[in-house]
Amino acid sequence: MKALTPSQIVNELDKYIIGQTEAKRAVAIALRNRWRRQQIPDKLREEILPNNIILIGPTGVGKTEIARRLAKLAEAPFVKVEASKFTEVGYVGRDVESMIRDLADYAVNLVKSEKTAEVQSKAEELADEKILDFLIPPVKKAHNGENVEADTNNEAYQNQKTREWMKQKLKNGELDNKMIEFDANSQNSIGMQVLGPFGLDDLGINFQEIMGNIMPKKKKKRKTPISEAKAIIAQEEAQKLIDMDAVQKEAIDRVQESGIVFIDEIDKVAGGGKGAGPDVSREGVQRDLLPIVEGSNVNTKYGVVKTDHILFIASGAFHVSKPSDLIPELQGRFPIRVELKSLSQEDFIKILTMPENALLKQYNALLETEGVKLEFTQDAIKEIARIASEVNDQVENIGARRLHTILTTLLDEILFDVPDKIPAEKVRISAKTVKQKLDTIVKNRDLSKFIL
Ligand SMILES: Nc1ncnc2c1ncn2[C@@H]1O[C@H](COP(=O)(O)OP(=O)(O)OP(=O)(O)O)[C@@H](O)[C@H]1O
Ligand SMILES: [Mg+2]
Repeated sequence: MKALTPSQIVNELDKYIIGQTEAKRAVAIALRNRWRRQQIPDKLREEILPNNIILIGPTGVGKTEIARRLAKLAEAPFVKVEASKFTEVGYVGRDVESMIRDLADYAVNLVKSEKTAEVQSKAEELADEKILDFLIPPVKKAHNGENVEADTNNEAYQNQKTREWMKQKLKNGELDNKMIEFDANSQNSIGMQVLGPFGLDDLGINFQEIMGNIMPKKKKKRKTPISEAKAIIAQEEAQKLIDMDAVQKEAIDRVQESGIVFIDEIDKVAGGGKGAGPDVSREGVQRDLLPIVEGSNVNTKYGVVKTDHILFIASGAFHVSKPSDLIPELQGRFPIRVELKSLSQEDFIKILTMPENALLKQYNALLETEGVKLEFTQDAIKEIARIASEVNDQVENIGARRLHTILTTLLDEILFDVPDKIPAEKVRISAKTVKQKLDTIVKNRDLSKFIL
């Protein structure tokens, strides 16, 4: 786990998220505390609970975004679930555990791809060797103990020379487009979907793997260019080089020590009333969540996961209900509450331009592929931000998401006309352009409800 200090974490988050300093601080502390905890000797370490957090704030102000970026930073296994989905019909108690299983899946993939990267160059070398064997099968060296190198007419020696020559060509990519036919392993997929509504995950058994081991691997002849064959064979070799048991073990460790679960819409299960579904009450969902958040053992197909030290970040708008409407035990497990603020016009200007993934940068990059240079004047950006605020006030406050709808409407024509009608050139968008394009829609409330 990367050991970023709290202020470094906030700095990293600042690259993507504007404002919301308090929330950033809270998650930074939670993440660092987890690292601190891992430095403490055993006994006390087990006692220290994660700083679970509730992020409170209106829609579209960066709650999910903060959690997502945090997980990326921590290189930690991360899943996001909507608490309200557990109130739907068909989701009963046991399914709440699925979030931990998803987390384990994620971690296994994460660790597996890391390990694959580690063995990649070795696997590529093996792949080259294999392809070489297809092209020029090696001949057995003479067994009579003669010095093979000495006899240049020796068949084995010639063969070796040719192989070396070919290998060089192979390495240089000179043969990449040549077609080759080779045996590829094809994983048998057996009709396992018919096994009923209960996921096999619940049994904690990796069925796919068991069946995969019982059934013989089917060899399949494939014909591809050498470059592609290299990639396919390298992948197969990499699989062989990786110790999947070790991967799974490490994945479980990572889930337990550094996993992050983001529970969205927690406010929708606050309060004791009935949820959307007829049979699962909101309080019921909270009771199901409780053991997982408090720490329990969950069966996954990779083994048992202890949830004690997983970091839970919950979020909700809490318009109707309040955090105090959650059952006390659950409240106790989320000791940190931070409020995120509504975004101002100034924030919108920054959001449009500053983050590394800022919307204007995205559209710029899209149009650059067509040779069109998109340029927004300062006034235009201000105007877009102003309109976003206005529509948020008048229609519904959807936070920064409003910027998406406004920009798609604003740029609709340009995006359609490039490259046919607008040749490669500079397209300048001024405040006037923005007004022309959007004013009538903004002024007409019914229209903006539908379009913006
Ligand atoms: N403070 C911010 N800085 C930069 N971008 C933001 C900010 N807030 C929101 N955004 C942008 O708006 C989009 C929606 O934000 P996000 O998903 O975080 O909303 P949310 O707070 O989780 O809302 P909801 O309660 O509806 O889930 C994000 O994709 C992000 O690009
Ligand atoms: Mg969200």
